[in-house]
Amino acid sequence: MEQTQTKRIVPVNRIILGITGGIAAYKAAELLRLLIKQSMEVQVVMTEAACHFITPTTMQGLSGKPVFTDQWDASVPNSMAHINLSRAADAILIAPASADFIAKLAHGLANDLLSTLCLARNCPLIVAPAMNREMWLNAAMQRNIAQLIADGVQVLGPDNGVQACGEEGMGRMLEAEQLAQDVLAFFQPKLLSGKKILVTAGPTYEAIDAVRGITNRSSGKMGYAIAQAALELGAEVTLVSGPTALAKPQGAQGVDVQSAAQMFEVVKQHVGSCDIFISVAAVADYRVAQPSAQKIKKSVSNVALELVPNPDILAYVASLPKPPFCVGFAAESENLAEHAEQKRRSKKLPLLVGNLAQHAIGSDDNELVLFEDSGSHILPRANKLTLARQLMQHIAHRYKGASN
Ligand code: CTP
Repeated sequence: MEQTQTKRIVPVNRIILGITGGIAAYKAAELLRLLIKQSMEVQVVMTEAACHFITPTTMQGLSGKPVFTDQWDASVPNSMAHINLSRAADAILIAPASADFIAKLAHGLANDLLSTLCLARNCPLIVAPAMNREMWLNAAMQRNIAQLIADGVQVLGPDNGVQACGEEGMGRMLEAEQLAQDVLAFFQPKLLSGKKILVTAGPTYEAIDAVRGITNRSSGKMGYAIAQAALELGAEVTLVSGPTALAKPQGAQGVDVQSAAQMFEVVKQHVGSCDIFISVAAVADYRVAQPSAQKIKKSVSNVALELVPNPDILAYVASLPKPPFCVGFAAESENLAEHAEQKRRSKKLPLLVGNLAQHAIGSDDNELVLFEDSGSHILPRANKLTLARQLMQHIAHRYKGASN
């Protein structure tokens, strides 16, 4: 079978990073670095107050471009920096957004370059508030934020925690890493809007007695990343999860289960209305025939467990009279291509995603191989959320192709 390496076509998103006056401005340097790392083209614009906290020289050095700070910049030939800059942007991100700047946005003020280009924009505006907790809770601030949300501005954060002033509460700017992820999510094309996706994730737990059970080393990270990536594409996501230590992605409908039998019941309840079923869970193939309701005592010298097969959830869904678009996963320890392709055919799947278990379990990174009728191709090693985004875009295109 022919195996190819997928070319990653990464569209360049152009973003204005607006920095206003607040101690969190120091985080803007790291944020800029992360946005550029995600292949974004970033133009920095700073208010005068921001320049008291971090220098334009730092931001110019990191972005490789002059930083705009002045509405009356004589180097701009047509003296219309606010129009030129906002027309050349796909989005504007204000991070940190001070209380003063949020108030300006809420009231449509335009008395410096950054506020003027926000008013003149024809692209989305994202703000990441950062301020003292009392300022954040102030009724005027809450009114202003509510106004921004009503105006269609996307508000990221703030976070709860210890503040630069030593007080503790809501008002910290989100960390640069989180903001960079949120901005990347914002730019994902809404290929699956209005579609329902059912994802299973994590291990299952098959009880032996009241306190012991059989499980496996699946962390659930890949399934949760896929649920997150599907949400970013605009889908409605139900995430059926075995026991994990992970928080459900915001916006997903989460259903927690323990055993394969419970997972099967939940999948059967939801599968009728779903468009795509992605079976990432490491479902136990066997369960204990008669688990003991009480803890088994060690006074018994030999214990033999009788195991009986669990239902194959994915095979059941794929063989329904009108199945959703089904995607399977296979973690193999050897002969990946042979085993994965054999699994794909036996379960009658349009797409099976294979990986080597020893490369994936518990790790934040992975490498995936996609097996389809047309052959197989590799999604090269990357962190699981990056891979999940690539995979979900691929699934969205395949789903559209199959349903046309
Ligand atoms: N799967 C499932 N229900 C099961 C077993 C597996 O839905 N009882 C799904 C998994 O979520 C995965 C795919 O089937 O998408 C392949 O799982 P895997 O355990 O690798 O394959 P098996 O068919 O169980 O084969 P084997 O364990 O022999 O490798």
